[in-house]
This record gives sequence, structure tokens and C-alpha cells, in this order.
Amino acid sequence: MTAAHITGIRAALLKWFDDGRRSGRRPMPWRNAPSLYNTVVSEFMLQQTQVETVRPYFERWVARWSDFSALAGASEDEVVRAWEGLGYYNRARNLRRLAIAVAAMPAPPHSAAAWRKLPGVGGYTAAAIASIAQGEPVAVVDGNVVRVLARLTAEPAVFKDNGDAAKFFAPLAGRVLSPAHPGEHNQAMMDLGALICRPQKPLCSECPVSRFCAASKTSPADFPRLRPRETQKVTVNRLWLVRDDKLLLQRHAAGARRLAALYELPLAERVFGAAGEREDLVLLARRRRAISNQQITENIFTPAPALPATPLPAVLDDGLASGEFLWASRATLQTLTLSGPHRRWINEFFR
Ligand code: ADE
Repeated sequence: MTAAHITGIRAALLKWFDDGRRSGRRPMPWRNAPSLYNTVVSEFMLQQTQVETVRPYFERWVARWSDFSALAGASEDEVVRAWEGLGYYNRARNLRRLAIAVAAMPAPPHSAAAWRKLPGVGGYTAAAIASIAQGEPVAVVDGNVVRVLARLTAEPAVFKDNGDAAKFFAPLAGRVLSPAHPGEHNQAMMDLGALICRPQKPLCSECPVSRFCAASKTSPADFPRLRPRETQKVTVNRLWLVRDDKLLLQRHAAGARRLAALYELPLAERVFGAAGEREDLVLLARRRRAISNQQITENIFTPAPALPATPLPAVLDDGLASGEFLWASRATLQTLTLSGPHRRWINEFFR
């Protein structure tokens, strides 16, 4: 990419970003009052989550905890509950730990390198915070930015995964970055990737940098070239057990890698062994969802209505005593933190 290209791209991007901000193309409340705290909160929420999903969570969050000290005073339960439905709950725990660390410092960190040392802050989030809130000229390299750069250059290399591609494009992202307006430039690149330079069906006719783009004349959707990922099919069997108008739930262990301490419908295998083979259980519902490269089928089994009450095994008594299982009343359900899909299913079935 020539120096003239880079100058042209910077100017076109910044103008597009400015026009969009004025026209309110995609309102982002964290851009209205871009304090350091608001930037940190929004960047944590935006990790792996789309702007439209984040918006209401962000507004509730900053209304409840308006700065690092306020958040440092919240309990872990409170922050995870406020995060319910956003997924990847370690982000909430890390954000609280970050607030505790920042509140204890004489002044907040002032460089991407210093932000990276805090909980939950990777290279991309560190660059976003330092550039947007503190004006440091560091480039954000997320999936959107990689896509834009791969298309601008029609890069022929095939990458193992997104991380591999991000490493490859980081030097170019740094060269293209506008040193005078790093925050706006980074946000413009992310917005361009989300709105125009979309994974499928990019809107090249509306793109402010299409005249600099090597792929736009041919097949932009073929870039970046990534080795296809193998999807893994997973089946999970769940139970829908109600006794005395209380629903049985199972809690993930506090140290679990995902969903730590969140409640879900219990795993059938944990309660009954292989539920699919039991004649006293019938399929209540089947739900499919995808997380990263896994396609998950969730079968929700319930006791067959015509049969006498299914006897409950001893493992349940042990689990109730240890806190792994819980019979939750409707009132209790409102106070617990459930994983997002399970909250939806429970609202659907527990009437
Ligand atoms: N994705 C992550 N951070 C973002 C930001 N600041 N603006 C737009 N999209 C984003």
C-alpha cells in the first residue's frame, strides 16, 4: 500500500465517521459522553457482542455504577446479574476486578501497554481504550479491521484462524492508523467492518474507501482467506423437572471455565444417567444454537405425564445439600442469574 493510498484512506475514513456521527447512523451511547470509565465498560461489553445487544446493558450499567469506585464497591453477584444475557460472564468479573485495581491506583493507566496488565484486557481492548479515551496512536486489530485490510490489499495468504490473520495485519493496521485521530480512526474501521465491509454481501457502492480497495472490483467476500473451521456437533440432554411448582436447576461450579456459578436446566446425565434411554421421560423441546465452532443441540426431557411421578435419585439429595442443585420457585427464579438461552426457555415453558 503506497503512502498516497494511506493518506487517502485516512481522510476518507475520518470524513465518513464524522458524517455518520452527525447523522446518528448507529447511536452508541458510550460515544456521547466518552469518559474513560464509559469507554472501558463499553469495550468490555463489545468484546464478542454486537452494538445493538450492548446498548441497553451499557445504559443500565453506567446509570447504576457511574465510575470505577462505584463499580469497585459492587459485589460479584451484582455485576454478574447485571450482565445476565450478555454471555461470557468472566468479562463481568474481570471488569469488576479491573475497577477495584483502578480505584486503588493514584491515577488510571495511561497507555495500552499498562491497560493490558489489568484483568480481562487483551491487545484489542487495550488499544481501543488507550486510543479512544486517551488519544494514544495504537491500532485496534479486531475481526472487522482484519476484514477491511484483507480486502483493501486483496491479501492472498490463507490464515489458520482469526488470531493468525490479526497478527499478520497488525503492522499494516499501525501504518494506516491516523496518528492525529487514532480513536476516531479505530472506531471508523470497526464501524466500516460492521456496516459496510460486512462478511457477506459487502456494500461496496456505499464504501468510502472502495476506490482504494483491491478486492472491491472482483470478489471482496473471498477475503480474508481463512482455512475452513471444522464445526463440532454436540448434543446436550437437559431435564425439565417441576415439583410443588418449583423448577429444578443446576449450578455450574464457581471455578468453571464458562458460566461459572450460573444456573441452567440440569444435565440429564448428571441426574438420571442416560436420559434418552429412559421410558419415563419424553422430549419436551429441542433447541439448537451455535457457540464459536460448536453446533449444540439441546434436548429437554420431562417425565411422561401419564406415568406415576418419576422417583428422584440419591445424587439429587447430595447435590441439593451441596448447592449444586436447587428447587427454584417462580420468585426465586427472578433473583438468580441464569445463562441467556436458559432464561428464555424457562420463560417459554414455566407458565
Ligand atoms: N467494537 C468494539 N469496540 C467498538 C467501538 N468502540 N466501536 C464500534 N464497534 C466496536
